[in-house]
Amino acid sequence: MKEEMIVVLDFGGQYNELIARRVRDLHVYSEVWPFNTDINKLKDPSIKGIIFTGGPNSVYAPNAPQIDKSIFEIGKPILGICYGAQLIAYSLGGKVEASSSKEYGPTPVAISSSSILYSSIPTNITVFMSHGDKVTRVPLGFTTTSSTLETMNCSFENPAKAIYAVQFHPEVEHTEHGQDILSNFVHDICKCSKSWKDDSFISETIDSLKSTIKDGKVICALSGGVDSAVTAALLDKAIGSNLYCVFVDHGLLRKNEAKEVIDLFSDKTKFKMNFIPVDASKLFLERLEGITDPEQKRKIIGKSFIDVFASEQKKILGATFLAQGTIYPDRIESGLGLSSKIKSHHNVGGLPKDVSFKIVEPLRDLFKDEVRKIGLALGLPKSLVYRQPFPGPGLAIRIVGEITKEKIEAVQEADFIFRSIMDERGLSAKASQYFAALSNMKSVGVKGDARSYDYAVVIRAVSTDDFMSATPVDIPYKVMTEIANRIVDEVPMVNRVLFDFTSKPPATIELE
Ligand code: XMP
Repeated sequence: MKEEMIVVLDFGGQYNELIARRVRDLHVYSEVWPFNTDINKLKDPSIKGIIFTGGPNSVYAPNAPQIDKSIFEIGKPILGICYGAQLIAYSLGGKVEASSSKEYGPTPVAISSSSILYSSIPTNITVFMSHGDKVTRVPLGFTTTSSTLETMNCSFENPAKAIYAVQFHPEVEHTEHGQDILSNFVHDICKCSKSWKDDSFISETIDSLKSTIKDGKVICALSGGVDSAVTAALLDKAIGSNLYCVFVDHGLLRKNEAKEVIDLFSDKTKFKMNFIPVDASKLFLERLEGITDPEQKRKIIGKSFIDVFASEQKKILGATFLAQGTIYPDRIESGLGLSSKIKSHHNVGGLPKDVSFKIVEPLRDLFKDEVRKIGLALGLPKSLVYRQPFPGPGLAIRIVGEITKEKIEAVQEADFIFRSIMDERGLSAKASQYFAALSNMKSVGVKGDARSYDYAVVIRAVSTDDFMSATPVDIPYKVMTEIANRIVDEVPMVNRVLFDFTSKPPATIELE
């Protein structure tokens, strides 16, 4: 136990580890614990406050996770978020009901009180919501502190008992003043000092890799992205020449990408690690033929990656470990603990059960921006550290429905045009991730005086740090027109370009 900490009780939300991470960003140590943790453990004097997370259930559903009500009597400040807020209301005699008007994404909220939680925060802010149920009556002793158009009791509190509840997600970066609200809770309500600082990740991880792997050999799945590159760099420091980095070209990479990655990692002046490129495009594309279901695609891709690594394993005596650049959002979206499965990330939920490797994932608890900081500290080139993320399953999850060679070429070309225009117009830095995808929608058009019946390309550009929530990037109208014109002119099989303005949630960043 640390001297001071905030415990985040996990009710199965998508943002649990993100809450703990945001608290740690405020220099207060925090960990995520199961919702049914023994109350006696929570009485420890080092625990200065407790946060209840969101979750996918309705509090009144038969199997919904509940809380031992004695938690409200142990004298620790409590903050309930989303499901956590509803649970506070429900457990203490308030009322929670399904709402006909659900709120997802950015929502204006009016703050109506001088609560400590909102001290130094404007009275009108935009917050991130993601809920179907709402609190229709607050418990006795509680007052409402903010409302939205749809949710009268958007936040409520009983300051005498130090119990606070917010329907929105302060931990999500797109909630305005979200971090200030968390700071008011941990610093002003829980009275935590700002004493915690973690700069030991690199040395502790290298020590732990050394003691797990010993003299063993490791195959590291290297995609050319920042997560796997940082994983490889940590392993390089821990085990040196016993590391074998395998780059798999599955035929679903962006235009020119395979060559660029191979050139970069073959350059011995920059990277000294053993580097093995494998062209497995035939295997992946054959297995994906005719598959339309996104989850099935992800499972096939997860298994095919493992098959390729297993075939490399046979050539490297003693390679019992497989290292992956899995990060926290990959695990939470694949359905960790009580959380709902959103999609099986190829390296987690898409991984077959019977793997012939011991899996090593040094970045499994980190978010993308934390990985980038570590990449810089390890001396990786900036161009690699800030490379926009590209998902392991590649274009397979950017082609909605069946994958064909022609569709891959079309999306590669459209994506290349879009990214080039973003670079030329100086817009790349505005977006954390931007790409073209191919929808499964065919529509009628007219090309060269003749009828066409072709696909629609979807353009998506989002801004985010944590990749758990994201907002669309503002692309000037003139640039949008240029993008659309060039794509329909230059890409066969495409006669329409659509811009995706949806935030995450409720959409995800990728289309599948
Ligand atoms: P979503 O689509 O879930 O994406 O909003 C969040 C981030 O994760 C990436 N992503 C993946 N990365 N394997 C990966 O390596 C996967 O299966 C996968 N699915 C999504 C996505 O590109 C975005 O950066």
